[in-house]
Amino acid sequence: MTKPDEITPDELEHQIAIESLLDERRHFPPPAAFAARANVNDPAIYQRAADDYEAFWEDAARGLDWYEPWHTVLDWQLPFAKWFVGGKLNVSYNCLDRHVNAGRGDRVAYYWEGEPGDRRVITYADLLAETERTANALKELGVGRGDRVAIYMPMVPELPAAMLACTRIGAAHTVVFGGFSSESLADRINDSEAKLVITADGGYRRGKPFALKQNVDAAVESTPSVEHVLVLRRTGQDVAWKDGRDVWWHDIVPRQEANCEPERMDSEDMLYLLYTSGTTAKPKGILHTTGGYLTGVSATHRWVFDLKDDDVFWAAADIGWVTGHSYIVYGPLANGATGVLYEGVPDFPDPSRWWEIVERYKVSILYAAPTAIRAHMKWGRQHAQTRDLSSLRLLGSVGEPINPEAWMWYHEVIGGGRCPIVDTWWQTETGGIMISPLPGVTTTKPGSATMPIPGIFADVVNDDGVSTPLGEGGYLVIEKPWPHMLRGIYGNPERYKETYWSRFEGKYFPGDGCHRDEEGYYWLMGRVDDVMNVSGHRLSTTEIESALVDDHRVAEAAVVGAPDPLTGEAIFAFVILKSRVEPTPELGQELRTHVATKIGAIARPKTVMFTPDLPKTRSGKIMRRLLRDIAAGRPLGDTTTLADAGVVESIRDATTSARDDE
Ligand code: WT7
Repeated sequence: MTKPDEITPDELEHQIAIESLLDERRHFPPPAAFAARANVNDPAIYQRAADDYEAFWEDAARGLDWYEPWHTVLDWQLPFAKWFVGGKLNVSYNCLDRHVNAGRGDRVAYYWEGEPGDRRVITYADLLAETERTANALKELGVGRGDRVAIYMPMVPELPAAMLACTRIGAAHTVVFGGFSSESLADRINDSEAKLVITADGGYRRGKPFALKQNVDAAVESTPSVEHVLVLRRTGQDVAWKDGRDVWWHDIVPRQEANCEPERMDSEDMLYLLYTSGTTAKPKGILHTTGGYLTGVSATHRWVFDLKDDDVFWAAADIGWVTGHSYIVYGPLANGATGVLYEGVPDFPDPSRWWEIVERYKVSILYAAPTAIRAHMKWGRQHAQTRDLSSLRLLGSVGEPINPEAWMWYHEVIGGGRCPIVDTWWQTETGGIMISPLPGVTTTKPGSATMPIPGIFADVVNDDGVSTPLGEGGYLVIEKPWPHMLRGIYGNPERYKETYWSRFEGKYFPGDGCHRDEEGYYWLMGRVDDVMNVSGHRLSTTEIESALVDDHRVAEAAVVGAPDPLTGEAIFAFVILKSRVEPTPELGQELRTHVATKIGAIARPKTVMFTPDLPKTRSGKIMRRLLRDIAAGRPLGDTTTLADAGVVESIRDATTSARDDE
């Protein structure tokens, strides 16, 4: 592992030029009948937002219930924003009580389906009662306002209840995706100094139970802040037990009163932390607060997904990622929506599972990742075509650029040619959707996220921060603060400034390349930093490199993303072994497993290639551009700055030592 170099503007242009050859000319205007009854169908909304964006967002905030109103809409001390300053509210109250109080307690909050086929229907009244009992249990376990709680659970209804219980008593949660290793979990617990871990014995995935409690046991060996572990029984598998520390959910939650007064939180109180990979080995605790976040996610959920009373909304994502936080839990519940929650993988017991769910619950809005759509394409359209998908009226995409082929397949095979597609660009940091069509207004083009939504102001700039003319590419920037933006990186204001606000003066830099076409449509081109996007999940090359060099036999490692037809990018690791260590396929497999153990299965490199050397500049920087070319099997770009020209040939001659071709 050496210092990463940055993608050059040349390289970016090159990439953009190739992609732009796609020259997508198909246009899809909103169907007239859809537009006629859409929540937003007047394009004047863009101008209204531009004329006074504070007033525009203030209007949106009025859609929530506040105990006390704000005195200032926005306090902007670049790069630190405060929204709805002085306002007081409670998130769980807004997501639950106000619907129940309005006589909508019998409305379904979630149709839940476990992977093995077990099902539960959870109404708003049920979810409120479960949240209140859980909140009281948390209090009994010593958790209170201002504390942090780590949540490491499968996709069961108790997961949103646990999150809402935290918000009810003013504790912040940090949900850790169940696929992360015990070490990754421990890092996140320690960084956030969580007092309590909420977990389950395990969960189901691909037809088999997997363990969670076991990972928690290993993690809490090294987390001094943790006082208790609250354990839900999901699979019934055996678990180790530490009396005094471990508490069964069924022993403490059901006996609580379903009555817990919500805390009156400040608009800027911390709501949650969500860790995400950056360009260093250490994940960043992205900090979201209360009033602005809930305003942003609920408003975008209504505008972009055109939510109606009779809709059944399914974000087929995991709550462990930001998509789940914003569009399975907080946005939809704040809007009183009926949603679907599904525990498992899309192809268990067979690839028709998703379509069966759409048919069973009459899902009308489906929100999914391109990688899942491509997997369905691979499995074949017959699985969808044998199901009744006529309830669908709108489709969404998120996580990575959607290739036009997948867009068209989604449109035709899943949407029956009648459903608009909203390709939504955003990030963990942005909290909610930023660039997306409004389905009743925007003419879409397959592969483009189209334009910033009303109230969001973006631009595409060159290396010097100068806006690039239409028809050219550059770096995406956001020009004005927005309510659901991150408030910082937990405990690290310097890294916050450095990562997002130092590249271009006064502008937020998300780290994505972007091409804007002649009509001003945004075409997102992927990351321009050392961050990969594998199946819509963000992974840091540096984090994986550091896991590799952690093995005593590895001298140096360089990781790049290689284009992959299914996962978008796949992890390709170049490894230099210490002298006298034999490169064998077995060692390659061991290293792949080692990374999975250190970080989590999602970080397992698809390919490990042993090489005698790495291409470096004369100043010693690894030339990742060349490694990316090699990994992609492309002809090499400019090699003039290479210190030793022979090196590339020697890498090319090296044989792949371990790869996963499943
Ligand atoms: C990165 C953020 C937003 C929830 C899931 C991922 C890429 C996301 C799109 C899209 C092109 C996209 C970007 C972004 N990305 N959505 N519609 N088109 N790229 O959240 O893990 O924070 O990753 O995902 O590169 O920076 P995340």
